[in-house]
Amino acid sequence: MSRYAIVTTAPDFQQRLQDAASGALEGEIHAWLGSSFPSGAQELVDQLPDPRLLDVLVLGPGVALDDALLLADEFEVQHPEVSVLLATTPSPSVVLSAMRAGIRDVVEPEADVADLSVLLHRATRSAAIRRRAASLSSGETSGSANGRVIAVVSPKGGAGKTTVASNLAVGLAANAPHATVLVDLDLQFGDVASALSISPDHSVTDAVHGPARRDTMVLKSFLSAHPTGLFALCAPDLPDSADQVSGEDVSHLLDQLASQYRFVIVDTSPGLSDHTLAALDKATDYVFVSGMDVPSVRGLKKELDVLRELGLTPITRHIVLNSADQRDGLTLADVETTLGTKVDIVIPSSRPVRISTNQGSPLLQGKKRDPASKALRKLLLRFAPPVIVSTKGKGRHRGGKS
Ligand SMILES: Nc1ncnc2c1ncn2[C@@H]1O[C@H](COP(=O)(O)OP(=O)(O)O)[C@@H](O)[C@H]1O
Ligand SMILES: [Mg+2]
Repeated sequence: MSRYAIVTTAPDFQQRLQDAASGALEGEIHAWLGSSFPSGAQELVDQLPDPRLLDVLVLGPGVALDDALLLADEFEVQHPEVSVLLATTPSPSVVLSAMRAGIRDVVEPEADVADLSVLLHRATRSAAIRRRAASLSSGETSGSANGRVIAVVSPKGGAGKTTVASNLAVGLAANAPHATVLVDLDLQFGDVASALSISPDHSVTDAVHGPARRDTMVLKSFLSAHPTGLFALCAPDLPDSADQVSGEDVSHLLDQLASQYRFVIVDTSPGLSDHTLAALDKATDYVFVSGMDVPSVRGLKKELDVLRELGLTPITRHIVLNSADQRDGLTLADVETTLGTKVDIVIPSSRPVRISTNQGSPLLQGKKRDPASKALRKLLLRFAPPVIVSTKGKGRHRGGKS
């Protein structure tokens, strides 16, 4: 069984990787040493005894950076489930190029067996999650179908989580009406109800206790309907009620909702509370939101590091820079260098966003074309293809499953 493959000129590194893999992990390493490098992804895969089992490909040490990036790019397109790692001395520019080529991690050539073992574990887990995602989107679900759980998080309050979550939810509901639900896990001070102008009869606290916990039909009746076809489960009115909800309650609730809805969007409180960690553990997709100021960006960097240490790896990860204004002294390049990864979406600081919050009507509920709405739509496209209105007057067609 070849779950790992390595292309390198360094037999000692290959030996350490071999030792790391033969510890707690199951699987052999298929190695290309020295001059006989495969020229492309296809040639590499063709030489494996069973290419379908490949989880992790390690490139280097000794592979030219450009060659490694090209090969990683090919894998990203042809075999997106395989986690590609780059073994080279990490400089900020190398790390950025690596991330852009879809490389999952950059590892020091001197890394010891213990470090390599942790890395292989993470990379294998991430490959398993991506395989699951691929089978989900091709409709090969086993047992109960599971929707995507999208957690919107940030270390700081006021970063724009609720703005992003409510717009994403309204936008996804246009693609999947009555199949999208927004959950407010900012249990103390959540404001999803205000963002959507709804007055819920029931809250998350009601949903995790009593009959709704055992019966999804009851749970569904606890959701508030929004005119866009979105459902919402709002935070309780009283901040004290948050104590009545445990991390395990959150896990159970998200399992229930994901078994019934195609998209479950989770708005969270600042930082990594038990509720947020439980949501991240269940989430298939993470959306990180940061302001464009040094404390926010540093906070996000710490959060990314902590989640990495915890081995929490989603299927997709999206970094949103919100209320961005380069006149405030930070550039996009500064932010990307600090984070060590690229920013996916930049939402400008915008008056229409503030107005929409005050009116309780997410921007994507309308057809506005201001820069913030455009950026939010770009984020939406990362989860759902656009709804195409048929010119033959036969109603709406969806662009396919995301
Ligand atoms: N891009 C933006 N431009 C201007 N104001 C924004 C922007 N994003 C969010 N805001 C405002 O900032 C405030 C906090 O946003 P919110 O989404 O509630 O943050 P969080 O949920 O992270 O605490 C709201 O009043 C919102 O209108
Ligand atoms: Mg909020």
